This record gives sequence, C-alpha cells and structure tokens, in this order.
Amino acid sequence: MRRKLVVGNWKMNGNRRANAELLAGIEEAGPFVADVAVCAPFPYLSEVALSLQGDKHIGWGGQDCSSHEAGAYTGEVSAAMLAEFGCKYVIVGHSERRAYHAESDQLVADKAKIALAHKLIPIVCVGETLDEREANRTDKVVKRQMSAVIHTLGHCISQIVVAYEPVWAIGTGKTATPEQAQAVHGLLRTQLHAATPKSGEMQILYGGSVRPDNAAVLFSQPDIDGGLIGGASLKAADFTAICRAAA
Ligand code: PGA
Repeated sequence: MRRKLVVGNWKMNGNRRANAELLAGIEEAGPFVADVAVCAPFPYLSEVALSLQGDKHIGWGGQDCSSHEAGAYTGEVSAAMLAEFGCKYVIVGHSERRAYHAESDQLVADKAKIALAHKLIPIVCVGETLDEREANRTDKVVKRQMSAVIHTLGHCISQIVVAYEPVWAIGTGKTATPEQAQAVHGLLRTQLHAATPKSGEMQILYGGSVRPDNAAVLFSQPDIDGGLIGGASLKAADFTAICRAAA
C-alpha cells in the first residue's frame, strides 16, 4: 500500500513569527497517519529545521534548487545546501517556476537529478494550462513534461514524488474534479509503469486549490496519493484538516 503524503508549499509567504505559530499548530495537531512536510522559503529553512528536528513525523524541504552543483550562480541555492539543512524534499518544476523563470522540461529534469544525487526527494510538478486543457492537449503536455524526467533519471525515476498540478487550478479556487484529476494521475501512472517496475509504489500528489472540504474526495481516488497544498497550507487549522483527510 502506498502511503499518503501531504506537502505544504508556502511559496513566498510568511515571516518568522507567523511561521513559528504555523509550525506549532501543525505539531500540536499531529502525529498524522499520512506523511507530512512543509516547503518553506530558503531563509527560513534553518528555523524550520530547528523547530521540527525533534518531530519525526513532519519533514521539510525547499521550493526549488539549482541544477548546478556549486559555483558562480548568484542567487541560486544548491541541493547540497538544502540537504545540509536536513531537507527531505525539494519541489522542482512548479508551474510558477516554469512560467516566471522560463524553466524548461530539461532543466526541471536536471534539478530532479541533482536533488536525488544529494539524497533529497524531488517533488516534480507537471500540469497543463487552461489553454492547453481547452485545446485537448492535457495528456500530451503532462506526458511531455514527465518524459523529460524519465529520460534523464532512468531507473532512478522510482525515487521521485510526482505532483500533478493543473495550472488553471492553482490559487484560483477552481479545483479539478476528482474524475479529472484521477484521469491524469492514471495516465501518469501508466507512463511511469513503462519506465519502472516500481511505478505502483510511487506517490503521485494532486495540487491546485485543495481545501479541507475537497481533500478527502480527491485523496480517495485510486491514483491520488495526497496533495501539494499552497494557500491552505498557511493556516494550521486548514492544513492539518487536509493532513487528516489523507488517512
Ligand atoms: P494552491 O497552490 O493550493 O494555492 O492552489 C498549490 C500549489 O501551487 O502548489
């Protein structure tokens, strides 16, 4: 049986006081049946690590990493640095990075590769825009995004977490229906199956306006193994309700 996983993506939100309150609220509500983690902005990772290090139940991670090992890459943060701060996960290829930083499928795949090299679990995001969905190109787009990662990682593909996040559902309040989400998750699972005998063990998360009131039905779909949560991960009550929905 695959374990469920719920990951909070704080994006560029928070401050030291708000983060401390949020983490205290999450810890108080745990432990959870599901695996739980928070992905914080880089400057806060050391504080997140300090407050969660005694708590074996909640992991943490970064929201991006460089595709380079080290060197003259001003403003970038390496996978090795994230690992040094105890990160278990790193999100790569979030649609906001793909859109605002022109990250290509290959760059995302390279980031996943370097993350694995540093024993981080990359949470690789894929998803179509509204235009792409309306043009019936959803399957083609997510398969293309996934296939760059499969090609680059080879048999190591089984070590990643995948997050299907339809771009039109992110931060918009519009959630994919459980059927829409399951259809794409099923497609991704089939694609992964052709690449690794371990596809059945891989966690595929759904992201895009997951809330306490829609989490349980999404997470009950056969190929949905939890969620990547943006807006609702900033309030302890909402985030922990979603974590509990992933039982
Ligand atoms: P949202 O964001 O839950 O606010 O829609 C999800 C994400 O971008 O990971």
